[in-house]
Amino acid sequence: MKIAVLPGDGIGTEIVAEAVKVLDVLDLKFETESALVGGAAYEAHGHPLPESTLKLAKEADAVLFGAVGDWKYDKLDRPLRPEQAILGLRKNLGLFANFRPAICYEELVGASSLKPELIAGLDILIIRELTGDIYFGQPRGRRVATDGHFPGAEEAFDTMRYSRPEIERIARVAFDAARKRSKRVTSVDKNNVLETSQLWKDVMLDVAKEYPDVELDHMLVDNAAMQLVKAPKKFDVVVTGNMFGDILSDEAAMLTGSIGMLPSASLNSSNQGLYEPSHGSAPDIAGKGVANPLATILSAAMMLRFSLNQPEAADRIESAVKQVLASGLRTGDIWSEGTKRVGTREMGDAVVAAITKKTITG
Ligand code: IPM
Ligand code: MN
Repeated sequence: MKIAVLPGDGIGTEIVAEAVKVLDVLDLKFETESALVGGAAYEAHGHPLPESTLKLAKEADAVLFGAVGDWKYDKLDRPLRPEQAILGLRKNLGLFANFRPAICYEELVGASSLKPELIAGLDILIIRELTGDIYFGQPRGRRVATDGHFPGAEEAFDTMRYSRPEIERIARVAFDAARKRSKRVTSVDKNNVLETSQLWKDVMLDVAKEYPDVELDHMLVDNAAMQLVKAPKKFDVVVTGNMFGDILSDEAAMLTGSIGMLPSASLNSSNQGLYEPSHGSAPDIAGKGVANPLATILSAAMMLRFSLNQPEAADRIESAVKQVLASGLRTGDIWSEGTKRVGTREMGDAVVAAITKKTITG
């Protein structure tokens, strides 16, 4: 087994180092190999996703990814910006199924901006389609308008696009996931306006026939945005397209008050996956040793479960994280009165300690 480790930019290097440290104490049989990605790769090789990095990612069983991006690259041409690395990895590895859980940890209920009773026990799974939609649809570009409200004006356009098989496969991922949970799926679209969304809904209804034991409902994306803050616990598995999933998953993450806690997985059809924290590169706190490494550590747990077939090791990481939270250690992003503030490395050390203690006591 081989894990490609791609720390990226900003806090990426700090948090990934802690996740690798945690993986190391589990004493599992795999090798790791690191490579540059994002702005760091642009600086060294002139491209955010160099051939060598892509090759490593393709050949690995799983990719552990930190984060990419920094304001200082905002002026680069789009194909050279750090974000292109993650988009390129998704596209080239065919990582169409993005799992973004939003879980509210009991100890962190107070970190949310919502009332505790609305989010205590929250456990939503957003499944975002990741390789289609307006993110990748062609044609796209800039031109001079020949029609519309301002003929002759400069205009830009993107294409929202989905095919039936693309929707079918993400629908199956969502229904399969729901079977392991509460057997409910909410499909989110904008079928009152968009053709792609009408096809999305039609295909969801068709695939639902293969899953008579799972209940499917549909929600328009604007209403879903509202319901997520009004009554988030009504949701269980949410399946949606690339663009709506991008937005709703950030909203859902923030319900928990602690985006620094949330892992994610992006899988292809052979269960090869890329695992990354749901948060970004946070250039404002990079290099200060204060970032929360738990989302990345929990992403490593997802990696063990989904791609490396090591569910027990994944359980050990997850229960170690719970123990550390229960012991009152907090990085700045989840700190509250009465808890102990620690840095990135101390948090990683605490998880390692909780795991190794467990090994001794069985
Ligand atoms: C995410 C990010 C990316 C996306 C960006 C960095 C391209 O926001 O993973 O949600 O929009 O998908
Ligand atoms: Mn996003």
